[in-house]
Amino acid sequence: MHHTTLCAVAAALLSALPGAQASMYAKKSPVLQVDAKNYDRLIAKSNYTSIVEFYAPWCGHCKNLKPAYEKAAKNLEGLAKVAAVNCDDDANKSFCGSMGVQGFPTLKIVRPKKGGGKPMVQDYQGQRTASAIVEAVVQQINNYVIKVEDKSLDKFLADKETPKAILFTEKGTTSTLLKSIAIDFAGVVTIGQARNKETKAVETFCVNKFPTLLLLPGGDASAVVYDGEMKKDAIVQFLSQAGQPNPESPAKGDGKAKEKKSGNASSAKAKPKTTSSKTFSATPVSETETATQEAPVIVETALPIPSINTPDKLVKECFTEKSHTCVLAFVSSTESEKRKKALESLSELAFKHAQSKRHLFPFYEVPMGNEGVASILKALDLTGDVEIVAVNSRRGWWRHYDGADFGHESVESWIDAIRLSEGVKKKLPEGIVAIAVEEPTSAAAPEASSEPTPDATEAGVSEEATQVTPEASGEAASDSTESTSTQATDPTGEPETAHDEL
Ligand SMILES: *[C@@H]1O[C@H](CO)[C@@H](O)[C@H](O)[C@H]1NC(C)=O
Ligand SMILES: *[C@@H]1O[C@H](CO)[C@@H](O)[C@H](O)[C@H]1NC(C)=O
Ligand SMILES: *[C@@H]1O[C@H](CO)[C@@H](O)[C@H](O)[C@H]1NC(C)=O
Repeated sequence: MHHTTLCAVAAALLSALPGAQASMYAKKSPVLQVDAKNYDRLIAKSNYTSIVEFYAPWCGHCKNLKPAYEKAAKNLEGLAKVAAVNCDDDANKSFCGSMGVQGFPTLKIVRPKKGGGKPMVQDYQGQRTASAIVEAVVQQINNYVIKVEDKSLDKFLADKETPKAILFTEKGTTSTLLKSIAIDFAGVVTIGQARNKETKAVETFCVNKFPTLLLLPGGDASAVVYDGEMKKDAIVQFLSQAGQPNPESPAKGDGKAKEKKSGNASSAKAKPKTTSSKTFSATPVSETETATQEAPVIVETALPIPSINTPDKLVKECFTEKSHTCVLAFVSSTESEKRKKALESLSELAFKHAQSKRHLFPFYEVPMGNEGVASILKALDLTGDVEIVAVNSRRGWWRHYDGADFGHESVESWIDAIRLSEGVKKKLPEGIVAIAVEEPTSAAAPEASSEPTPDATEAGVSEEATQVTPEASGEAASDSTESTSTQATDPTGEPETAHDEL
């Protein structure tokens, strides 16, 4: 009992230190932290294989394992889940007991059953090194990739409706990366793999180099050849044109009230989800920081946003009394990193929303430089050479994007806040809409605001109500999760592993 007292003192001391938590893993750790409550959803019901560490923060072997375990988590990012349960808590204790945990750390590999049902749980008794753990987990990843051979080609292609993708390769084995993609798209896009020696298949699709990834979007749509990098997030984006990938685990609440919306708008956001998605990111293991920042792969998955070049058009689209929400990126004509990033972020978002058939308010690029634009900027007191704002002239408010970097994540969470009607709305200066109303082209013409997109969109519906439906908020939140996961930059990114190639 003396022992307990000492521990209690130590714990009290620790908790006084900044950052010292009950949990052994930091919030930012690549290790996904689960507990009795969310284990089922995050691990047991996922289509991904997981390894779960049951630990106690005070246990020396657990501390020794930590670096290797975190490294394994990094290497398995996007391929399998690496999770930990802190058993040193009454709330988790009985759960750990029910999982048969008798000592710390205990490592278990949880392999989902194809087609549903209880997953298979095995103890991991191998070496406690990152590579041994990674190898063991990789071997337990389910394979949904269908082997396509000349003799089975017709059968594979028979169901015309379901989108399919085929990887033509010289390899006889299926890569972990492709397996993970097949899991992402299980039930959405059928993933096949054909070897170069399957000449009929190769000739049918005129494949002349290997590897080649081909998407058959379904129906009468013609095949699309992927010409981006063979990296996971780029491929996932590419395949997303045929259907949205599965979430990494079933949605929270699974149908019942999703993410409860507290009265407190600013804290609600998509933040809590972001944390968990970071731990299980779709970012390929090998992607280095620079590669992610440059994000060359994004270009083909972006929808260029229309440009508004005349003040008349700007007024007509966004500054009449009837105008719904518009997102405007005011950009100076000078090329800059900021400008590029801002437009890219919006283009990617536009693409994503188009993909998920979600109507959102329109995004426009508005070159600075003419007087009308200058006077609007002046009225809003904006002086930067890149400024993103949302305006809703109908309701007389506007919002200013004041994030630091114009990066995808930051712009997206700003947009999400607008959709959820969170955050600060500023009152539009009187003059702006008034000027607009005077414009002959605009206010007079009711057709001006009759385009279906902005009308139907309206996130404005929820803006009016200021209360968001659970679906809307859940959707937005999960949506932003996706994006964070595909976009997550990882400063500690490891270079290569054996599992990043198709
Ligand atoms: C159970 O473990 C999780 C994950 O380690 C931890 O975050 C959580 O705080 C624990 N449960 C409780 C009630 O403390
Ligand atoms: C798991 O895979 C099945 C298809 O086998 C799919 O219908 C289901 O939506 C997937 N579940 C999740 C959580 O992705
Ligand atoms: C909402 O959050 C703010 C700070 O972000 C805080 O000051 C306020 O007390 C919170 N309100 C509620 C109802 O939680």
